Amino acid sequence: MHSLILIIGVFCLNVYAQNNSSIPKIVETHCMSCHSNYTIIDSPLMAGQKKDFIAFELFNFRDKLRVHEIMNQVMEGYTDREVKEMAVYISKLSLCEAQAQVDEHPNANVEKGKEIFQGSCFACHQKDTFGIGPVLHGQKTWYIEYAIKSFQSSWHKPRPSRLNMKNHTDMLSEQDIKDVAAYLNEQKLCEISPLYY
Ligand code: HEC
Ligand code: HEC
Repeated sequence: MHSLILIIGVFCLNVYAQNNSSIPKIVETHCMSCHSNYTIIDSPLMAGQKKDFIAFELFNFRDKLRVHEIMNQVMEGYTDREVKEMAVYISKLSLCEAQAQVDEHPNANVEKGKEIFQGSCFACHQKDTFGIGPVLHGQKTWYIEYAIKSFQSSWHKPRPSRLNMKNHTDMLSEQDIKDVAAYLNEQKLCEISPLYY
């Protein structure tokens, strides 16, 4: 029941947003109401993320290739042009705004996470938007863990991938996932240099 009310709410908001607003306004008011640090529905941070990655995921949600109740509803009815415009707008927001709160990681070995990341992930996932994959640094711990699992072949709703993320994540154990997610969550995206204090 709870989720039905939520879906109806999201749907109404979406129709309202599409009829009355420009894409920047939709992103700022509608999308960011979930995609920031303190929201009722905990969602990944995305400001400043790579344009191609965001567009790929938004099309996947709209076309229901990536299954997620809320996001499938949110993206319903947008045209290709609007989806691309949304991705461009989000990618131009400051990446610093995508910095998650650093969580406690009592069950993770952050040093081990760093080793895994540098050995198997760094080539595609750099701390800036020049890598071929999305920026993972400074993301919420729970989301990184969940996203890694959603590429694994044992996951019940596998997520589409352009670069076969299944092959890059299938070898990771539960503990490896905790370790690498903790390491990434603890990476600061935009640290203010001590020179500027
Ligand atoms: C009611 C909350 C809510 C609203 C509103 C919302 N989202 Fe989301 N969004 C989510 C959640 C939760 C996820 C995580 C999906 C998953 O776990 O697979 C998500 C995932 C995403 C992702 C994938 C991010 C990634 O790193 O994989 C993108 C991109 C995205 N949303 C963009 C948008 C855009 C653009 C809008 C506005 C048109 C929007 N969202 C509105 C809750 C929301
Ligand atoms: C060959 C390049 C490549 C390598 C190596 C790689 N990834 Fe990825 N990764 C991608 C791409 C590209 C995406 C975006 C989805 C897609 O198109 O496949 C992605 C998506 C992700 C996501 C989802 C992010 C989000 O916001 O939804 C996570 C988490 C992730 N990778 C973790 C890892 C980890 C952990 C490793 C190392 C163990 C790794 N990746 C290795 C290319 C790579």
